[in-house]
Amino acid sequence: MTTLQTVDTHDDASYAASVARSDTIHELIQDPGARGRENLRVLTGDRPTGPLHIGHLFATLQSRVAMQDNGIDTFILVADYQVITDRDRPGDLRSATLGQLADYLAAGIDPERSTIFAHSAVPAIGQLMLPFLSLVTDGELRRNPTVKDELAATDGRPLSGLLLTYPVHQAADILSVHGTVVPVGRDQLPHVEQTRAIARRFNQRYAGGEEYFRAPDALLTDVPVLPGLDGRKMSTSRGNGIALAMSADETATRIRKARTDSERFITYDPDRRPEISSMLRTAGLFTGEPPEAIADRIGDGGAARLKEVLTAAVNDGLAAHRKRRAELIAEPAYLEDVLHQGNGRAAELADRTLADVQQRLGMHY
Ligand code: TRP
Repeated sequence: MTTLQTVDTHDDASYAASVARSDTIHELIQDPGARGRENLRVLTGDRPTGPLHIGHLFATLQSRVAMQDNGIDTFILVADYQVITDRDRPGDLRSATLGQLADYLAAGIDPERSTIFAHSAVPAIGQLMLPFLSLVTDGELRRNPTVKDELAATDGRPLSGLLLTYPVHQAADILSVHGTVVPVGRDQLPHVEQTRAIARRFNQRYAGGEEYFRAPDALLTDVPVLPGLDGRKMSTSRGNGIALAMSADETATRIRKARTDSERFITYDPDRRPEISSMLRTAGLFTGEPPEAIADRIGDGGAARLKEVLTAAVNDGLAAHRKRRAELIAEPAYLEDVLHQGNGRAAELADRTLADVQQRLGMHY
């Protein structure tokens, strides 16, 4: 959700520590016999700002399915209140949310084994934010590099109270269900650090040193972010991405219109030829080939041939997902049912957490 700037501003030592912890958790998740595995609970989420695209499929959806299939308790949040952190209007949240849900299910998330829920349906998250806000300073929030980047990306809008404090809201997301593992991209690391600080401070200040909240760990995704067709960060609003929901024809049109460069011979050269290289990488992710091999095969066929190859790779690779997605979208009552069940499960846990928190604060009357 943010730019690469965060990477440069984030403290290197704490990044190295996060990578090390993240590697340990990856091993734990993959080893069915490992001790302590049953204590893991994954909490992750997406803002319903628009259709999910193929970047999400490779960077997050597939790994969530793999964790679920590995028997890890997985919670996935539709972060609807987070949509209004950096824009004036929420957009069509109902259709964005149901679309996101359909993509989750089509990608292989199984609502019997994973819990999908929405912010707005779990009021205890909002209430937990109040004591959590007492544990952070305004200076700390203002220094959060991701908040700064997001503010910079809003073209001179004033900083809203929600944008400033949303890392605390995100801490409430995670801690409300006692999430211990948070799969995120590098841009979200400051929020996991903030959550760890809140958990520790709560335990010290309000729980008499008892380890009521466990400080969660970030699980860094190892798939590098897939750039858009133009080689820049993929975003549906920039028109350089391919939404999972697009039809085969829409996909073909988008790829046909994408800009390339003027060199005929196709080579994989990400620094010098970002557009061509991004197309080769995307095709390779779908066909399982290295981008260089695809480039060699196309060679003199030029950009026109590359676009044909890419269109076929994407449309073949997504055909099953799109068919399943369309079936699900045609059944909104089923999607609502899935969400309501997930909301119920998450709300039950979050209500219990809120009661525990209030108990420790002496607010039991
Ligand atoms: N901020 C995250 C993003 O934009 C979405 C999110 C909301 C999230 N709450 C979360 C991610 C809790 C992990 C855990 O990608």
